[in-house]
Amino acid sequence: MVKDKTVFVCSNCGQESVKWLGRCPSCNEWNTFVEEVIRVDAKTNRNFNTKTVSVPVKINDITVEDNEARIISGDHEFDRVLGGGIVKGSIILVGGEPGIGKSTLMLQLAVRLNTCKILYVSGEESKSQIKMRYDRISSEPCDNVYLLNETDVDIIFEHAEKLDPDILIIDSIQTIYNKNLESSAGTISQVRECTARFQQYAKTTQTPVFLVGHITKDGTIAGPKVLEHIVDVVVMFEGERNYGYRMLRTVKNRFGSASELGIYLMQQNGLVEVDNPSDILISKNTMNLSGVSLAVVMEGLRSIIIETQALVSSSAYGNAQRTTNGFDYRRLNMLLAVLEKRCNFNLASKDVFFNITGGLKIDDPAVDLSVVCAILSSLVDMPLNHECCFAAEIGLSGELRPVPHIEKRIAEAEKSGIGKIIVAGYGLNKLSLTNKKIEVVGLNRIDEVFRHLFG
Ligand code: TYD
Ligand code: MG
Repeated sequence: MVKDKTVFVCSNCGQESVKWLGRCPSCNEWNTFVEEVIRVDAKTNRNFNTKTVSVPVKINDITVEDNEARIISGDHEFDRVLGGGIVKGSIILVGGEPGIGKSTLMLQLAVRLNTCKILYVSGEESKSQIKMRYDRISSEPCDNVYLLNETDVDIIFEHAEKLDPDILIIDSIQTIYNKNLESSAGTISQVRECTARFQQYAKTTQTPVFLVGHITKDGTIAGPKVLEHIVDVVVMFEGERNYGYRMLRTVKNRFGSASELGIYLMQQNGLVEVDNPSDILISKNTMNLSGVSLAVVMEGLRSIIIETQALVSSSAYGNAQRTTNGFDYRRLNMLLAVLEKRCNFNLASKDVFFNITGGLKIDDPAVDLSVVCAILSSLVDMPLNHECCFAAEIGLSGELRPVPHIEKRIAEAEKSGIGKIIVAGYGLNKLSLTNKKIEVVGLNRIDEVFRHLFG
């Protein structure tokens, strides 16, 4: 007889407990425990028929054929985010809020890879809905993509074994269930169990598997967080709904840099890669307004120029407000404190609103100097010369600190036709700056920058 087992599982991190707990002892989140009934059938066979018996091998004896190991999708942004293509046998989780464009991204990828046989399993949409999406994004015939409407993991594997695809796409992992588990699809135990099966499939057949996973605003339904350690790569597809931009960001990557960023534009006929984001992110109409400044930031291995905006106004109430968009709130407070202490500006009675345009979120410390310059420009109500951009971190004593990849940043600014870049003076003499069309100004303290800009 099968005995039912009840466990309480944290929906944030997957911690299990025999009784309900108010606060998860593992991730410290409140009210995340949900009850799940788990009934594992005695006959469950979770193992795949591996044709090879595994034996220990010396690391020196393993050969990786470079051109064999990765599948190049042809979507430059996607390939770069994955670290140079799709690694065979890898399992990739594509997370994002509902409606952000995950299914569109996956379908576009499938259509583009016309040399590979692709099995696209959808548990959410009917075949005709997917066909309608396909008609939007492509006008060419496509005979490499097979669609399957199925949510039972065993049946998916039956088809996968018969079809033997080069790539398997699962949209989405939250709709897939294993009938041997009592809990319903989308619960932690189902998601974890099914992901483990897909991982086993990927490793034994060397087929890359893409898993689409939904996350919600208030955290996670059946947390992709739980999956992060099972899968090889986690990429997040994000963006502000009101903007057309979509960002594909790596959170974890066993085969490449974990801080890459790919930028797309969602249009009527699908996602378009943005090769040169600097051109789009800088708005040419705000050139002569105060409170706007340009920063050169690194996103992964790529440098981009972004626009930062600040508005400083007298506070109507006793407590000054500080609001940020796309930038760390505490870091803004720190920069304001530095300005107050080192430059003697009285900001305590001012409201400060700060914004990074285009819906981007930046955590590169090199944006500091631009933030401060935008604030100063708004404070004195004098526009900055838009032929000037910034790249330096600011320390607590108001000093400008050098940032990594400074040559790349200077080159990016030069390429975008900007005439001047202000960076930290330290270490500048080691760079070769001859034959540059751009003027590189090295300064050491924030008050020097103020004098340099506003006289
Ligand atoms: P979708 O891929 O269904 O999102 P997800 O799978 O993440 O839930 O994309 C949904 C949104 O994208 C929808 O609001 C419509 C929009 N969209 C376009 O703007 N252009 C297009 O070509 C397509 C296919 C979708
Ligand atoms: Mg979808």
